[in-house]
Amino acid sequence: STLRGGDGPRYRPPGEDGAPYETISVDKLTPVIGAEVGGVDLARPSNRQMDEIHRALAENSVIFFRDQQLTPEQHLDFGCRFGPLHLHPAAPHAPGHPELMIIHADKDSPRANGEGWHSDVSCDLEPPMGSILYITTCPPHGGDTMFASMYAAYDTLPEAMKAKLEPLRGVNYYDPTSDYVVRKGPPSEKALRWTHPVIRVHPATGRKALYVNRLMTFGIEGMDPAEGDALLAYLFDHQEQRQFIYRHVWRPGDVILWDNRCTLHARTDFSPDERRLLRRITVQTESA
Ligand code: SIN
Repeated sequence: STLRGGDGPRYRPPGEDGAPYETISVDKLTPVIGAEVGGVDLARPSNRQMDEIHRALAENSVIFFRDQQLTPEQHLDFGCRFGPLHLHPAAPHAPGHPELMIIHADKDSPRANGEGWHSDVSCDLEPPMGSILYITTCPPHGGDTMFASMYAAYDTLPEAMKAKLEPLRGVNYYDPTSDYVVRKGPPSEKALRWTHPVIRVHPATGRKALYVNRLMTFGIEGMDPAEGDALLAYLFDHQEQRQFIYRHVWRPGDVILWDNRCTLHARTDFSPDERRLLRRITVQTESA
């Protein structure tokens, strides 16, 4: 498998010790995904705060912080506390900072719109561990980012379906000619391709997560295409259900950190006349 489970869980799941946080506040946003973290300046977090931020991420899969002010260097420094930084195969980046992706839309953009459900760079041998978004300009309405828990999606599958999926591998593509708004197919000749287990064991928590997504997974390895498409259609509908989702309504100064190994994300539409500006850092898997 390309997404190994490592040597077993290094993190004890919540409830096993249940110790309170001491250097940050952590308020859960839904029963299965998302927490708001307070009491920390991400421009200069202490080592103890960083330990607790790692724990909050492992327990909640997505965490956000309000009212932050990060220079590009501070944003990069924070990202480096999670692992080596990833270079996106296609996205625009800040001058002089290839690891700092710029996500920008305004009235002159070729498009300003939503983005379908996906997990980042699932076409890679080692897809990234996670990403950190920092927003400085948001539209007054829409452009929300939604995150779905793939632990919850896996946990709620029927037992017979879990057993059927266990040995399967999904075929994932990243197609630079796609705008990633809606699923299009089949992928172009230029698309990057990799297969991954449909059920992934998270290397830090040891929990199982569903690892397919509507934008990038086309087919199940070795399976008849019609059968694979039918199975994927069922899984896509299952994993995008409301009860698995946290929807973030942005304010300037928000920072969001998500674990790409156990979540999907998507963006809602916003007016093409509005401006939206974020910087994003992507962190590689530890073994990469
Ligand atoms: C992303 O997919 O990295 C960006 C999400 C967003 O623009 O809200």
